[in-house]
Amino acid sequence: MKVLLIGGAGYIGTHVSIEFLERGDTVGIYDNLSSGHKENILPGVEFYRGDILETHRLNEVFSLGWDAVIHLAAFKAAGESMLNPAKYSINNITGSLNIIIECIANSVPNFVLSSSAAVYGEPAYLPVDEEHPVNPENYYGYTKLAIERHLEWYRKLKGLNYASLRYFNAAGYDKAGKMTGLEREPANLIPVVMETAVGKRKHLEIFGQDYETRDGTGIRDYVHVTDLASGHVKALDYISSQKKSLTVNLGSEEGLSVLEILNEARRVSGKEIPAVYSGRRPGDPASLVASSTSARELLGWTPVNSSLESIISSTWAVYRKQTS
Ligand code: UD1
Repeated sequence: MKVLLIGGAGYIGTHVSIEFLERGDTVGIYDNLSSGHKENILPGVEFYRGDILETHRLNEVFSLGWDAVIHLAAFKAAGESMLNPAKYSINNITGSLNIIIECIANSVPNFVLSSSAAVYGEPAYLPVDEEHPVNPENYYGYTKLAIERHLEWYRKLKGLNYASLRYFNAAGYDKAGKMTGLEREPANLIPVVMETAVGKRKHLEIFGQDYETRDGTGIRDYVHVTDLASGHVKALDYISSQKKSLTVNLGSEEGLSVLEILNEARRVSGKEIPAVYSGRRPGDPASLVASSTSARELLGWTPVNSSLESIISSTWAVYRKQTS
């Protein structure tokens, strides 16, 4: 298949490109390099520099003919989306509509969306399955839900096959070390822990110590990015062969606390990794853990790389190498 990864020079996109390349697909990456890195574009991938708001450029690249689009180009900082919603409206919603419209205009039949567990908001029950009500707590989550809904309309009206993949907490790095470009100014837990381990930050701030969880810190479902990437390949195969659309969670189904992550990072790195407690971060639920039953049953997907050890050691290997 000929697959175009939009926003493919970022953390998740690079890992998705590895999976498609490994099975011999033709891979193109369209990216404005605002947060992605050129060095993440692997040999054998055709690179098209462009922004999803530049409709002429999009049209030029779409007219080359593609079997599928994997859409990973979005801003993802939930806190920022509450302070600067327009940035998210324009890039995430308008940009996605531009892509959907190009798919229809150029007869690209398959669309895989990088969606998020943020569409659910505060969980009413755990584990969260796809039947759970959607009620985003932040504007970022709303933008993902809005795109999902546009895709459903375009399925009904224009026959576009789509897969909305609701990621839980993406983590880890490919074991072969193919991806080298680290995220700039990360806000997510594991990269912050790693930056502290290599001395780039003085300490980790632990957001909240009084949650109703086993150790008082927040619990999340960390899923290895290589597992997420294989979910994209399986989802594309499903929608293209069955001519059906689907919305599925991709999570490890395992909840890990902030302290469990921190202690494993200390063990694996042998570094002290200073940490201080600070207040809860607004909008953070105590626990968020996926049910990935649908992805297992419909796609035959299993998260085989998502153990705590595998996530932390693969991440440490990259941080240690990049910063030594
Ligand atoms: C966040 C976003 C989510 C987005 C996801 C991917 C929020 C509320 N949610 O998820 O919408 O899809 O990133 O980018 O922003 N933590 C600390 N100290 C830190 C950083 C995090 O204690 O410096 C804690 C958090 O309170 C949480 C856990 O670590 O309990 C994971 O946080 P994070 O990595 O930011 O992911 P989410 O908040 O789950």
